[in-house]
Amino acid sequence: MNHKTWGGRFTKALDTRVAKFHASLSFDYVLYPYDIQGSQVHAQMLAKQKLITPQEAQLICDGLTEIQAELSLQKIKLNEATEDIHMLIEQLLIAKIGETGKKLHTGRSRNDQVALTVKLYLKDKYVQINHLLLTVHETLNHFSLQYQHNVMPGYTHLQAAQPITLGNYFDAYAQMIHRDLQRLQDWQRRMNYSPLGAGALAGSNLPLDRDWVARQLGFSGIVSNTLDAVSDRDFVMEFTSFASILMVHLSRLSEDLILWATQEFNFITLDDAFATGSSLMPNKKNPDVVELIRGKSGRVFGSLMGILTVMKGLPLAYNKDMQEDKEALFDTVHTLCQCLEILPPFLNSLTFNLAHMDTKANNGFLNATQAVEMLVLKGVPFRDAHHQVGQWVLEAIDKQCSLTDIIGATNANTT
Ligand code: ARG
Repeated sequence: MNHKTWGGRFTKALDTRVAKFHASLSFDYVLYPYDIQGSQVHAQMLAKQKLITPQEAQLICDGLTEIQAELSLQKIKLNEATEDIHMLIEQLLIAKIGETGKKLHTGRSRNDQVALTVKLYLKDKYVQINHLLLTVHETLNHFSLQYQHNVMPGYTHLQAAQPITLGNYFDAYAQMIHRDLQRLQDWQRRMNYSPLGAGALAGSNLPLDRDWVARQLGFSGIVSNTLDAVSDRDFVMEFTSFASILMVHLSRLSEDLILWATQEFNFITLDDAFATGSSLMPNKKNPDVVELIRGKSGRVFGSLMGILTVMKGLPLAYNKDMQEDKEALFDTVHTLCQCLEILPPFLNSLTFNLAHMDTKANNGFLNATQAVEMLVLKGVPFRDAHHQVGQWVLEAIDKQCSLTDIIGATNANTT
């Protein structure tokens, strides 16, 4: 770490082991477009407020644009001695444009800068995740219409219970994803406030225009309390909590599909392009895609627990602990996108064995509840009807016939 960035306070070079230990560059590198976006608007605001000249702002903005291109082309070698992406970009700017580069950090701390950068990153990912989630929702909705008349067994306790339709089954997941979409959109509205201008924790005596920066960056407004602005990571906790609930839904859907693909259920046939084989057993065709979605839910829940635990004991305001929010957050975004991208093509590749589902729904006395309701409509008290149909089921098992046969025979005897 170059101690010059911190001014003249230090008399020794940072121990290289500490430099390595506290650096986040290896993982916060992905934030570079968002850091640059925030810095360019910050520089424009400094010029608007006459804290730097318009020419200086232009020089800074152009320099940053060049740095962004260089970073995206991976022209810059990452040096372990640079603490984080914010420091790296500032150092590169000073190296590129000289003295003017030193003015960029006017009225700003890395504490409000990092909060802003992560929010800009999430605002961008929001658009992508919202889009992917809409596609999943559309696929499920499409299935619920396509299969609205296809009967299958419904389960409770994983025991065949009553007939349902395959369309109704997919509609249940469409409803869950609809709530996930609402949660995502609700989160985005709540997080969409700019922390920039909060400084290290107490704002600035300089005449900054926080509202202008917020508007330029597409925020609804500013975080009004400066302590809150730099120490809040609710938006990370809420995002990972949204992600965890979504992964619960995807994992449960996956679990059903894994069961349905077994020889025992045989409700679906996996497409060869979306299944994998075994290195040993030539007979195997495995549902890896959905197993992985089910498995990946674990790391997303882990991220949520990690972030909650990092935050729970922190005194106000910023603490370096908060740097630990990033790997979990990036991993969550990456995992969600991967799962949401693969799910629609996987679902579209499935063959539903509709005739077999129908047969299964018509076996195993799944119409017993319907028979009870028929008796109730004829005036039989519910408990008596339940008992009566239970006896018919027993009789049908004994005679190896269907419940309809027994009821038919009973009706014939009574008329
Ligand atoms: N890399 C740091 C983080 O991710 C940036 C903020 C550092 N602030 C500080 N005062 N050391 O949290």
